Amino acid sequence: MRASQAPVNQPGPLFTAIAINHLELKNRIFKAPTMEAMADEDGAPTDRMTRFFQRTAAGGSGLMITGLTYVNNAGKGYMAENGMHADRLIPRWKALTDEVHAAGGRIVMQISHAGRLADPRVLNGAKARAASAMPNLMYLHWAKRLTVREIREIIRDFGEAAGRVKSAGFDGVEIHSSGGYLLASFLSPLTNRRTDDWGGDQVRRFRLFEEVYHAVRRACGRDYPVFAKLHLGDFLLLGRPWPGNYDAGVRMQALGVDAIEFAIGVQENITITFAKGGMPIEVVGDSLSPLHRLYWKTIAVCYTPFTKFKGPYFTHAARELKRRGLTVPLLLSGGFRRFAEAEHAIASGTADLVGMSRPLLREPDLPRRWMSGHREDSTCVSCNRCTLGLVNATPIHCSYREEARPKRHP
Ligand SMILES: Cc1cc2nc3c(=O)[nH]c(=O)nc-3n(C[C@H](O)[C@H](O)[C@H](O)COP(=O)(O)O)c2cc1C
Repeated sequence: MRASQAPVNQPGPLFTAIAINHLELKNRIFKAPTMEAMADEDGAPTDRMTRFFQRTAAGGSGLMITGLTYVNNAGKGYMAENGMHADRLIPRWKALTDEVHAAGGRIVMQISHAGRLADPRVLNGAKARAASAMPNLMYLHWAKRLTVREIREIIRDFGEAAGRVKSAGFDGVEIHSSGGYLLASFLSPLTNRRTDDWGGDQVRRFRLFEEVYHAVRRACGRDYPVFAKLHLGDFLLLGRPWPGNYDAGVRMQALGVDAIEFAIGVQENITITFAKGGMPIEVVGDSLSPLHRLYWKTIAVCYTPFTKFKGPYFTHAARELKRRGLTVPLLLSGGFRRFAEAEHAIASGTADLVGMSRPLLREPDLPRRWMSGHREDSTCVSCNRCTLGLVNATPIHCSYREEARPKRHP
């Protein structure tokens, strides 16, 4: 089903306003968090990053969520990742949020600790830290189990980073607790094997998120929008999250989180879970050693049969969260390429905001185009070449070049 070429005049449900805590949004489209790989050595935004967000804001998204941003140096996961680990960064980020606001945009910062999934090239010889001693299957190293003292320091660092996010003029903060990163690794029974106060059952696995949330709330106040990105499961089994961590969403709501975004999957299986799509085998692992590259390419070949998708792939999980009683705004992304599908997700009550990551890299003004009545599909073909920036620190961009006849998503 392709949208017609003739412009349509009714804006429709996608273009209705919504409030999240005190944050007023002009429409229901958000730029899903996408690691920009555009920060300098210290994690500060570069001019290129400012231009990237200005352009996306001008493109009409009601809300933009930044890519993951480390709260302390040990929590840095990627080269060129955003940082909010020191007060000196506040003026740099403030300059960026001023530009975004001048362009009519709203921006929330996603704060994170990479945990087990850190790229060893950013760890400077230190061991990655996680809920339990676990392997990282991308970079083939073992993370070390966190001590309780280290856990306490991380909680403090999340709170301090959130305070800086507010001081830097962001419109809200999102606690990153998905993708397999540190907070997600505590939520999951697969990667949290602890039997102390921080693991062993659902309540204790949730405890780190809970304490981080309280530290963030203390730093930002009740009126400041606090979002959470919920880890619903480590991988997909027959299209369902394994294990289905829906209760954690309900607990987040009970705590006072203002909005919930979610994902299923970990960075090791990104192209068959939360960023389903093509596997750019020819360039996978380019910045790694020959043996490591061969390992990645072999995995890429094995994944390829499972990467295909037709349309949004997490709608069932959104419906299940609502069925379990979620009433705070729910942010849904994953495979939205067509206006009708995005509109239906809002009109049917499946989600309250619809997000796009890869399509907005390719066409930042897609929301404005849809708003103006030109509702042709996004031309993103989900080739996933954009994911390579995560590994080789090249600023995120769409590198898919259309052949003579533009390819469209199936
Ligand atoms: C290159 C790339 C980087 C991403 N970085 C992040 C990130 O920093 N934080 C996050 O929560 N999700 C991240 N995601 C996941 C996206 O937010 C989104 O959920 C996913 O790509 C599916 O949406 P899409 O089909 O519109 O691309 C990333 C995805 C891609 C492709």
